[in-house]
Amino acid sequence: MKVHTLEIEIAGNSKRYPVLIGQNLLDQPKVWEPYIKGREVVVITHALLKSFYGSLLGQGLAAYSVHWIVIPEGEHHKTLGTIQNIIDTLLQKAFDRTVTLIAFGGGVIGDMVGFTASCYLRGVGYIQVPTTLLAQVDAALGGKTGVDHPLGKNMIGAFYHPESVLADITTLATLPDRHYRAGFSEVVKYGLIRDRSFFEWCGEHTEALLKKEPTSLIEAVKRSCQHKIQIVRSDERERGARVLLNLGHTFAHAIEAETQYKEWLHGEAVSIGLVMAARYSNGLGYLGEKEVSDIRNLLKNMGLPIDLPRNLTLQRLGDFMVRDKKAVDGQVRFILLKAIGEAFVLKQSLGAFLDKIQMG
Ligand SMILES: NC(=O)c1ccc[n+]([C@@H]2O[C@H](COP(=O)([O-])OP(=O)(O)OC[C@H]3O[C@@H](n4cnc5c(N)ncnc54)[C@H](O)[C@@H]3O)[C@@H](O)[C@H]2O)c1
Ligand SMILES: [Zn+2]
Repeated sequence: MKVHTLEIEIAGNSKRYPVLIGQNLLDQPKVWEPYIKGREVVVITHALLKSFYGSLLGQGLAAYSVHWIVIPEGEHHKTLGTIQNIIDTLLQKAFDRTVTLIAFGGGVIGDMVGFTASCYLRGVGYIQVPTTLLAQVDAALGGKTGVDHPLGKNMIGAFYHPESVLADITTLATLPDRHYRAGFSEVVKYGLIRDRSFFEWCGEHTEALLKKEPTSLIEAVKRSCQHKIQIVRSDERERGARVLLNLGHTFAHAIEAETQYKEWLHGEAVSIGLVMAARYSNGLGYLGEKEVSDIRNLLKNMGLPIDLPRNLTLQRLGDFMVRDKKAVDGQVRFILLKAIGEAFVLKQSLGAFLDKIQMG
């Protein structure tokens, strides 16, 4: 068993904790024991994930009294109502502050369990065990937790860091293909923001990654985590460098909202958003044609969508972006590219955006 360990340290916060990345980790007591203080552990997950991985988790956690809370799947369950149900169960079973919660699932589980841990008895320990690619390279890192409100996504939450993050790529074997591919948008995003050689590496290893070849997959997860950790370390609360992580996301949020969150997975909308950011950068004279087509080709080869659906006009997306919280005085904050590996922030009006974006 080889485990790659990265350390997360947040500026101005005394908490440090590891991200463990590897294969076949779940049934290994030594990846759990340093991060669990008491005797009681509560695994919070979905029914299908429990059926796939329950017995492996049971072996890894054999030294503890293990309880399960199974919650329904889907973003529409990422609500205060579900948190209330989790807390009801925790209180009924009288778990005290020594309990450790385990978030076993994708970003939906991670966000909800992290938020529960932040407020149950004013805060208990938890471990992030991301089981989607998106959660392994993004959602499980950085301490953002929370739930959606009918008036907006992720509107209620807290910054609350886990005791550790355990990313076992073996769990991705059961992840539906579409969800797996969607996670690559966030991987490619790190290369685009700050690491051209990682972007190129993704191009050279696309086939291996799509086949879930373990060495390449571990490398992709590890390098992605390193980037997120480095960015979050200096800017936990998104006052500076962390905004760059929104590359492609201003567009993606507009695409998701204008299609009622039904047509695209988040990562798919991000893929289209990355191409739009590249095209707009090109329209403003920052990024060459060749680089735009390299970005398009990589995402396309990863099986991701790269074009806006015909019924979704730029005007509609632009109107959404202006209404969205990112617009100040009619100016939208765009994250753009000077080159592959070099993102920057530029405030522009909607008119300038519609005028300059080159949709080809
Ligand atoms: N906190 C953050 O910084 C952050 C960052 C990015 C995204 N997010 C949040 O993450 C959420 C999206 O996360 P997601 O894409 O992981 O979606 P998800 O958690 O809904 O998981 C997608 C689907 O895959 C299933 N699944 C998960 N792992 C599986 C596995 N190994 N095998 C089989 N099925 C599996 C889930 O049950 C679910 O049906 C959103 O709510 C988003 O807001 C948070
Ligand atoms: Zn994202």
